[in-house]
Amino acid sequence: MKTATVSLFALALSATVSAGDHGKGKGKDKAPKKPLVSSAKLQSYVNKRDLLNDANKLQSFAKAHGGNRAFGSGGHNATVDYIYNTLKRLNYYDVVKQPFTEIFSEGTASLNVNGANVPAAIMTYTPGGEVSSTLVAVPNLGCTPTDYPAEVAGKIAFVSRGTCSFAEKSLSAKAAGAAGIVIYNNVAGSLAGTLGAPFQDYAPVVGISQEDAAPILEALSAGPVEATLDVDATVEQRVNYNVIAETKGGDHENVLVVGGHSDSVSAGPGINDDGSGTIGILNIAKYLSNFSVKNAVRFAFFGAEEFGLLGSYFYVKSINSSETELAKIRAYLNFDMIASPNYILGIYDGDGSAYNLTGPPGSDIIEKDFEDFYKSKRSPSVPTEFSGRSDYAGFIQNGIPSGGLFTGAEVPKTEAEQKLFGGEVGVAYDINYHKVGDTVDNLNWKAFLINTQAIAHSVAKYATSWKGFPAVNLNERRWAGDKAKAMKRSLGVHGHGVHTHSGPCGGGDEI
Ligand SMILES: *[C@@H]1O[C@H](CO)[C@@H](O)[C@H](O)[C@H]1NC(C)=O
Ligand SMILES: *[C@@H]1O[C@H](CO)[C@@H](O)[C@H](O)[C@H]1NC(C)=O
Ligand SMILES: *[C@@H]1O[C@H](CO)[C@@H](O)[C@H](O)[C@H]1NC(C)=O
Ligand SMILES: *[C@@H]1O[C@H](CO)[C@@H](O)[C@H](O)[C@H]1NC(C)=O
Ligand SMILES: [Zn+2]
Repeated sequence: MKTATVSLFALALSATVSAGDHGKGKGKDKAPKKPLVSSAKLQSYVNKRDLLNDANKLQSFAKAHGGNRAFGSGGHNATVDYIYNTLKRLNYYDVVKQPFTEIFSEGTASLNVNGANVPAAIMTYTPGGEVSSTLVAVPNLGCTPTDYPAEVAGKIAFVSRGTCSFAEKSLSAKAAGAAGIVIYNNVAGSLAGTLGAPFQDYAPVVGISQEDAAPILEALSAGPVEATLDVDATVEQRVNYNVIAETKGGDHENVLVVGGHSDSVSAGPGINDDGSGTIGILNIAKYLSNFSVKNAVRFAFFGAEEFGLLGSYFYVKSINSSETELAKIRAYLNFDMIASPNYILGIYDGDGSAYNLTGPPGSDIIEKDFEDFYKSKRSPSVPTEFSGRSDYAGFIQNGIPSGGLFTGAEVPKTEAEQKLFGGEVGVAYDINYHKVGDTVDNLNWKAFLINTQAIAHSVAKYATSWKGFPAVNLNERRWAGDKAKAMKRSLGVHGHGVHTHSGPCGGGDEI
């Protein structure tokens, strides 16, 4: 993670678009009239028992299916079914399971050089393979087959990172006859990345750190170096689901969308990332069913976020071919990690005042409303970078006002933050980020409870009024969306992100 090999360009490889058909006013609620939702009433429902019950549920799904809820896995399927059934039973929402197919890739690698193990990371989409032979130093950057010496045939190429993509190196090595390729970093730190596209004629490929490469290069200049490279990898098409639920009641032309991602990484059960956001919005959806709304509220549980925001991009693309559908969405709220153990109470910096990455007009209002909420609780809060590194990216790229909360991932807490929130300076906000330890025990309850109340506050507010928000103007939205796309590009693959998800994203342009 710290080598920042993560790029954000999501692949849109997928299949049939099933249009976002939510409600549209049919199926009028015939039940006795419920009271109009209010912030205080909706907040009053929030309780630890409900959140804990769901956290245990998600953990049990992971436990029953190999320890994770990664997209397309049994653990994720169970999560999706649970969300779908919970919402369906309320008879308050029109609920849709939106299928999409994406390529899943995972694996492990081991590299042994002259009898010593060297930490090596697979590149996403690498094929598997095992080879024991000698390492062959490639004198230049290995970007074309002619860069490789003839003796590389059947052996393991040893190449520096740089100039061309990992994919080009791996394809060229294969074309030159290499049985595998080790790419070493050209800056300090370890190296992991993605080939950007599956099912090409790649040589099995791993990355290693510059530090680990230095003694190997020295040994190579002195004589032959024996090595074994073992890449155990799976690359396959997987069906996956978004769950989308819109209140039957309310104005369907002026909709609030509230989202989070329902998948985990394959390293662990993902109970904070993003079990916490999933559970927070699912429970608010349950409580909301005791009220009526003026504006329709659409809850979105996105799949395959950890693979490059794939579910949310798929969803946004399934509606943005229609300007009318797009114009119905007045704002998007995102909740991805809201109970980190060494938490901050972070609000996406929608007005750009802290990080100079400004969201579409209206994002400033969303940020301000969250600030006011924490003030009302006499609680501190801080802005957090609005960098496009979670499911709101597709929404801001379409000019939709967006915002949300984030309690922090792998970045260490500062002294100033410790003064505000307690916890430990110099320790990651979430020491179990993307790890096996992201369990129910990893959750901070103070953060989880106040943030679930914060969701209640904003949902109740926007379900009753869009006062203050800019009227929908599609030209302005297009302009704001283009600005958001440019903002994302300028961050590049080495951008500092508070919530960079590892895993495959990339359009094969990673170098
Ligand atoms: C998850 O659901 C998909 C779609 O229904 C199915 O193709 C797949 O086999 C399921 N995976 C597991 C592990 O149950
Ligand atoms: C609705 O309110 C009643 C009590 O007023 C409560 O028992 C019930 O659980 C609430 N429904 C939901 C979905 O929270
Ligand atoms: C903020 O970003 C814009 C580009 O979007 C740039 O022109 C401007 O100089 C930046 N301002 C600061 C204070 O960094
Ligand atoms: C739809 O949204 C995607 C994701 O942000 C974007 O790349 C694409 O340009 C949008 N399409 C239209 C027609 O606006
Ligand atoms: Zn996440």
